Amino acid sequence: MALKKVLIIDDEYEIRSLIANYVSRMDSYEASQAQNIDEALALASRNHFDHIICDYFLDPREKGRDDSRNNAVEFIKRAKALGITSNIIVMSGKAEVDMAIEVTKLGAVDYLAKPISFAQLQFAFKRAEEREKLYKENVKLKRQVEERYSFANIVARSPEMERIFEVIEKVKDYKTTVLVTGESGTGKELVARALHFNSIRKFAPFVAVNCGGIPENLLESELFGHVKGAFTDAVRSKKGLFEEADSGTLFLDEIGELPLALQVKLLRVLQEQEIRPVGNNKTIKVDVRIVAATARDLGELVRKAKFREDLYYRINVLTIVIPPLRERKQDIRLLVSHFIDKYNEVIKPKKVTGVSPEAMQLLMNYRWPGNVRELENVIERALVLTEHESIQIEDLPSNIQAMDPVNETTQDGMMPGYDSLSIKKNTKILERKLINLALAKTKGNKTQASQLLEISLPALLYKMKDYGIVI
Ligand SMILES: Nc1ncnc2c1ncn2[C@@H]1O[C@H](COP(=O)(O)OP(=O)(O)OP(=O)(O)O)[C@@H](O)[C@H]1O
Ligand SMILES: [Mg+2]
Repeated sequence: MALKKVLIIDDEYEIRSLIANYVSRMDSYEASQAQNIDEALALASRNHFDHIICDYFLDPREKGRDDSRNNAVEFIKRAKALGITSNIIVMSGKAEVDMAIEVTKLGAVDYLAKPISFAQLQFAFKRAEEREKLYKENVKLKRQVEERYSFANIVARSPEMERIFEVIEKVKDYKTTVLVTGESGTGKELVARALHFNSIRKFAPFVAVNCGGIPENLLESELFGHVKGAFTDAVRSKKGLFEEADSGTLFLDEIGELPLALQVKLLRVLQEQEIRPVGNNKTIKVDVRIVAATARDLGELVRKAKFREDLYYRINVLTIVIPPLRERKQDIRLLVSHFIDKYNEVIKPKKVTGVSPEAMQLLMNYRWPGNVRELENVIERALVLTEHESIQIEDLPSNIQAMDPVNETTQDGMMPGYDSLSIKKNTKILERKLINLALAKTKGNKTQASQLLEISLPALLYKMKDYGIVI
């Protein structure tokens, strides 16, 4: 069994060693140590620790002051911001209720007063692990409830998608042709499958054909079949997809790509409910429900005379328009957790439990031109790349990272607060800003400001003069 990992953070060597000694006496745990926040965060963001035990005051005692930037509160805040999900247990020399409340509010799971005994520590681990188990079960249950919103693998909770579920429910059993439209990757095929597999036709075949993916000269025989000898290569007769889909559903994907000559033939099939295989004089009756899909604007194709108007009206009886993902952002979280579950199975034994809040913000801000398919690919990639328990900003592709507010641009493509792209001009504006910030931070102490700016004092004085900064 893999050992559980524990990180001990204390500025005092003796305490660290004592706790590490306790940990080593427990069979299934191993300990690492850090003496300050930065060291601890560096370790914890590279490795997953099951438990982190953190001293409340992380200042060397001899200084004799309480530096509020250097305590467990600060550590917890920064750890949470980094998406670190370990159980954080805080210990302190003083058993103060206020402190205990403060750290638990921030997300610490336990608070122990020093001196800590072996048994106390062992019990704290056990309690934290039980709590974690309950929490995970809870998340799982919540997900199961959420999944009830889904319709045959279509994961969604936005009102827009719920309306689509209602339409599917209403029309699934009719033979009426349904046209599904939406940008690439929005789930048109999923909707077509949902229409079929929830209908009375579900035991008959669902046959999909990509009208843009088959050469024009083959498509007709593909759809309607051919008799032996109909053309040079027709050494035996072949059933068409219409016949194969008899009693079921034929999904005509990318219908906008259907060549004009075949559009006439399709229209006739839809009207007559019969097909004529290539090279055959007789027609065959078929009972097929047609679901067509397109990412293109069929109306526009009709105006350009690339799509027959009569066929357009024949298939446009009932249209389901799937909105792009950016217009139904409520679905993003649910889809993300759905794809995490899906790809966790694939990338075993790694286990990713979620997305850091910062990374989730970027996923919410992004425009998703490739819609759900793009989101799925991004999550799969992140799961493979990540070295953390939750997906971090750096695990996302660079075009999504560019959505980071730090990299934001104004409408005319400039950085906020700058009105040109000139490096020379902007460097000056930035330099001036940084100098003002450093002077404000050090309350006008130029020596300290120059240290923050990492330039020499004379260089700072020169620049202040240059920029007309007077204090
Ligand atoms: N709501 C959803 N829930 C779960 N998975 C989804 C959802 N929408 C789309 N997907 C997934 O995204 C991918 C693309 O979906 P689909 O093939 O149905 O899109 P499409 O609209 O037909 O795209 P294209 O126009 O590119 O053919 C599939 O892997 C599908 O499983
Ligand atoms: Mg498709």
